[in-house]
Amino acid sequence: MFPAQTYIERRNRLKQQLGSGVLLFLGNEESPMNYADNAFHFRQDSSFLYFWGIDAPGLAALIDVEADREIVFGNDLTVEEIVWMGPQPAIAEKSRRAGVKESVPLSQLEDVLKKALQAGKKIHFLPQYRAENVIKLQKLLQRHPDAANQQASTPFIKAVVAQRSRKSAEEVAEIEAALDITREMHLLAMKQARPGVYEREVAGLMEGIAYALGGRLSFPIIFSIHGETLHNHYHGNRMKAGDMVVNDSGAESALHYAGDITRTIPIGGKFDPRQREVYEIVLEAQQKAIAACKPGVEFRSVHLLACKRLASGLKALGLMKGDAGEAVSAGAHALFFQCGLGHMMGLDVHDMEGLGEEYVGYTEAIQRNPQFGIRSLRLARALEPGFVLTVEPGLYFIPQLIDRWKAENKFPQFINYEAVEKYRSFGGVRVEDNILVTETGNRVLGKPIPKTIEEVEGLAGA
Ligand code: GLY
Ligand code: MN
Ligand code: MN
Repeated sequence: MFPAQTYIERRNRLKQQLGSGVLLFLGNEESPMNYADNAFHFRQDSSFLYFWGIDAPGLAALIDVEADREIVFGNDLTVEEIVWMGPQPAIAEKSRRAGVKESVPLSQLEDVLKKALQAGKKIHFLPQYRAENVIKLQKLLQRHPDAANQQASTPFIKAVVAQRSRKSAEEVAEIEAALDITREMHLLAMKQARPGVYEREVAGLMEGIAYALGGRLSFPIIFSIHGETLHNHYHGNRMKAGDMVVNDSGAESALHYAGDITRTIPIGGKFDPRQREVYEIVLEAQQKAIAACKPGVEFRSVHLLACKRLASGLKALGLMKGDAGEAVSAGAHALFFQCGLGHMMGLDVHDMEGLGEEYVGYTEAIQRNPQFGIRSLRLARALEPGFVLTVEPGLYFIPQLIDRWKAENKFPQFINYEAVEKYRSFGGVRVEDNILVTETGNRVLGKPIPKTIEEVEGLAGA
């Protein structure tokens, strides 16, 4: 945990932002894999972690803003539970470490909420992504599960997003701790990704490193010779010389801050001439995009800048034609870059996505563009100091998408389908780093991980 003062200040700020009402936080429960006592690894809710710091299941917490009351609700372990799980600090002690004076058994939550409602106070809650917490809202506040998330409190969401978006120095240090582990994962993967080795062997080693170094994965590993599938979690292929692997993986720090890095590795140790060309285009797009990130710059314009660089590179290869800017405005580049350039990162790898991308990445004035490609952009708004985000352009040759667009003869003025046909089994390339927006520009977080062609080839196993 951070020092208690960190959590006290975060809650104080929240009280000032909301001004009135009761703010209800639901912690996460153990999540059963195949029966109740055989659970997935426990992961606390990130907003609960942010404001209360307590990393344990079965908790709720509440702030009564006007009464200036903060309460943690939870049950201490019984002796029977201690027999199986070992002793734990009491809830009162855990609460004290988060600067909270009042902690009571979970059974009192219903009554406290009832009294608040009777007193005419508004109960604010956040959107829930786990079924058991949706059911809690039904039991505690009589919200029908189908409607509960639509009734989540917009002022509460906005206040949480406003705070969590700007990372403090201690949070940035945690993200860099996650990136230290992430770096070890990537260095090992570059050395171990060799002809004859199965993807799962490397993915398994990376997961083991995250665990051995005191972290966990911040998302399921993407490690695939089919890097054209954006989130490919299949690891059953045997790598052979000439393949290229997209390794998109990251660890969580001990306090659950994320790292999210992608490198593309040539199997056999050397990129072939076509792979080099495509890799260079993606790398240049990433470097240009990173250089453009500073306070006040809208990330959607950085996205478009990267798209334009990708399109002009594809034009030089003969895969696209016409004016690169016009092609990007029309959305023609999305045949090769189907997603957004990046996203916020923090306690969640896609930070606060559960609270709603419309609050995290967009504003009243900057609304989502529905065009294929840019509609997947998770962050469009102007950057501010303290934002931590990913910059991750890529080029992806997806045979099914190529076939569809070709059949529809989409954008014939911008796409040379005959040339594209020769790349249909090329795969994909992505390069991803994590940056902190500073007062004057940005800083790439973490120690460098090989990224140029020379650096990657220097480490890649033959
Ligand atoms: N790691 C998933 C992503 O880059 O969004
Ligand atoms: Mn990633
Ligand atoms: Mn990412």
